[in-house]
Amino acid sequence: MVPQLEDLGEVRGKTVLVRTDFNVPMSGNDEDRVIADDFRIRAALPTINWLTDRGAKVICASHLGRPKGMSTLKYSMAPIRRRLGELAPGVELLENLRFNGGEEANNPEFVKQLVEGVDLYVNDAFGAAHRSHASIVGPPKTLPSAAGRLLQREVEVLGEMRNNPKRPLVAVLGGAKISDKIGVIDALSNVVDSFVIGGGMCFTFLAAKGMPIGDSLCEPDQISFCKKLLASKVEIHLPEDIVGVDSNGQFATFGIRLPPGAKGLDIGPGSAAAFADIIMGARSVFWNGPMGMFEDSRFAAGTRTIAQAMSETKAFTIVGGGDSAAALAQFGFEKDVDHVSTGGGASLEFLELGDLPGLSALRGAPNVK
Ligand code: 3PG
Repeated sequence: MVPQLEDLGEVRGKTVLVRTDFNVPMSGNDEDRVIADDFRIRAALPTINWLTDRGAKVICASHLGRPKGMSTLKYSMAPIRRRLGELAPGVELLENLRFNGGEEANNPEFVKQLVEGVDLYVNDAFGAAHRSHASIVGPPKTLPSAAGRLLQREVEVLGEMRNNPKRPLVAVLGGAKISDKIGVIDALSNVVDSFVIGGGMCFTFLAAKGMPIGDSLCEPDQISFCKKLLASKVEIHLPEDIVGVDSNGQFATFGIRLPPGAKGLDIGPGSAAAFADIIMGARSVFWNGPMGMFEDSRFAAGTRTIAQAMSETKAFTIVGGGDSAAALAQFGFEKDVDHVSTGGGASLEFLELGDLPGLSALRGAPNVK
């Protein structure tokens, strides 16, 4: 059993270390960083408020980016601390955990530093719960611990889709790389009724079917994996038209045979409509990864159509991963899906394995009988 906030006992007057995932998208130059989206900060408020309302002193801790043990202005928590101060006055935020190499190395000395003067530990960092880092797996070894509300909800919702989905269950996958997602594709192939595949990764599948893909993204070492999946029982929907640039760099629409020098950068309108139909006809949909380079308005239509279908379908809908969540927000549909997961890699790993290092650490905490 993963302990909940109620399992901490009396929190009044206690100092609580709350591991949050404030790894938020930032913009601006290195000296003047601005939060581009504070979704992950707001998502931690139910837990923070639960604790402060009951008289606890809350100290939050998070990583930001991948500074690899070096302190840099670019990854300073200062802008996040300011925003947190507005949303939850009086709550402290430690400096970027990854400024200390001991965080990623899970160094016991760093864990000791983190828990010094702290009475209780709460993990609400779903997005980082797949990392066996010091702040995730260390404190529950000695401190009474619990999952925060965000972590709890993520595990409930994703667990339900993994173990007891309403069918048909469709996984819509995009993004650049298959190699990042092989584990989850493998695990999901036993669970889903069909896959819808777009984004950069669709070209390796098209190549596996013997289609010429021009200069589009391709992972040659994944072609045999794609062939195996295409030959399996699970239904796989691939695009039937592509939008991109021709060999002169001009915007162009193609079928699924791309001429030499052409580059596919989005699914075409026919494929987007067909994918939307599949989403509308499903009873559960998990979406991870954009259909194309949606940051460029010329190649945003495929991702927009998927986001809209996710917002309109009667199916239970989960969107996982920073890019798909950002696309959903960019197109104004984030309030219309059932669950936007704060975790990218974490949601995929949880769907794949049904557990995460951060969860098993909490189950081993001293307050768990
Ligand atoms: C994320 O953004 O997915 C989490 O914050 C984890 O970040 P990481 O991939 O750098 O560990």
